[in-house]
Amino acid sequence: MTNVNTEKLSSARFAEATDAFVEVFTASVTFDQRMAMQDIEGSLAHAAMLKECGILTETEFQDIVRGLTEIGQDILDGRFDWSIKQEDVHMNIEARLTDLIGVAGKKLHTGRSRNDQVATDIRLYLRSEIREITRQLTRLQTAVLDQAERHADTIMPGFTHLQVAQPITFGHHLMAWFEMLARDRERLQDCNKRLNVMPLGAAALAGTSYPIDRELTAELLGFSRPSANSLDSVSDRDFAIEFTATASLIMMHLSRFSEELILWSSAQFDFIDIPDAFCTGSSIMPQKKNPDVPELVRGKAGRVTGHLVSLLMLMKSQPLAYNKDNQEDKEPLFDTVDTLINCLRAYADMVPRIGAKKDRMYQAAKRGFATATDLADYLVRKGMAFRDAHEAVGLAVRLGIDTGRDLSELTLAELQAFSPLIEADVFDSLTLEGSVSARSHVGGTAPDTVRKAVRAARQALA
Ligand code: ARG
Repeated sequence: MTNVNTEKLSSARFAEATDAFVEVFTASVTFDQRMAMQDIEGSLAHAAMLKECGILTETEFQDIVRGLTEIGQDILDGRFDWSIKQEDVHMNIEARLTDLIGVAGKKLHTGRSRNDQVATDIRLYLRSEIREITRQLTRLQTAVLDQAERHADTIMPGFTHLQVAQPITFGHHLMAWFEMLARDRERLQDCNKRLNVMPLGAAALAGTSYPIDRELTAELLGFSRPSANSLDSVSDRDFAIEFTATASLIMMHLSRFSEELILWSSAQFDFIDIPDAFCTGSSIMPQKKNPDVPELVRGKAGRVTGHLVSLLMLMKSQPLAYNKDNQEDKEPLFDTVDTLINCLRAYADMVPRIGAKKDRMYQAAKRGFATATDLADYLVRKGMAFRDAHEAVGLAVRLGIDTGRDLSELTLAELQAFSPLIEADVFDSLTLEGSVSARSHVGGTAPDTVRKAVRAARQALA
């Protein structure tokens, strides 16, 4: 039988050439070339292991190293000629290697399959991207800590149901963001632990009959160990799902920060100033300054969660072991990485430059009877049961509403009408400063407590 398609993969088995559209439809090289450097790194380690095990000669190994090094340089310089005909990043590099060094290039794939190769490449890729994500996350966390320290005693209203609830410090509010990011950081590290195992050696699905040394390859590539089951190694993408879930949580957190920044920069709140460099104007309304960066980040949170759902649905119901479905894992994963890095970077650049309008925050805390709970606590300290105190303060608030005054603006005589327990020292409890400094327990909003929390967080981050 003559070979009808010399360029086709495993061509000897086929009696007709691949349909031209199918060739394009099934190729992944347009996007998986992004993992080229990881593919080369994996191949170098695989070849070194084959040499150590006596499967490749020293000369063959040296040829492979020389060829792959040249290919790597060509790719970095943008000179590499990617071809759809070679389907994916793995075949493109292997074919070029054989062009360059001849028969030794054809031996590289001994004891290996693209199935364990691609699973390895994605893990190497993600492991290095997690390093960059963590770096951007650290920049953002540091920026949040700096702002929290600066505003440890800046008073603002704290909200529940978006209604003024109790006075808090802006530093304390920022430290709530920090806590969310700290958990995100732990999740990233955790995810990295599970993805850092090495699939190579699983070959197509059943392992290989060559006398390979998987521990050695794992060590060369910096993996903690070889994977434990060959079928699972080539089919599992749950590490990518776990990463995208972590990314979705980070984006969800950023979307919450965004929402607050958007609200606070509106004329109605007017609590903060977002630097001009992070805003744009309107093409029709000359007065507008729109908080584009927070809005875009809020929007992109949906996009990343979309990728999480894509990957979950991609994996759902797949029988063991490798299926071509898994080629679809890359685009959602790559876009998740890009989106996350860009959003963290924009935030890490923007947060240090956000200005707090202390006076506006303070005035807003004074409105809305933010110290009502403090008055109730005062009465409890004087011996009243909390429920009775709640009732008495409710009446005081009603008087305040009816006469347009804050609790601290009622006279002592007026306050005493609600309870004879009230004395002149009540006004200490009704000030915003008194209210926040009274909450000095661990996790509280008192300025000194916030400073302590910032110090501890800096140490943990270092
Ligand atoms: N491009 C493929 C992917 O991304 C590589 C593995 C192909 N394996 C195969 N048996 N067709 O999944």
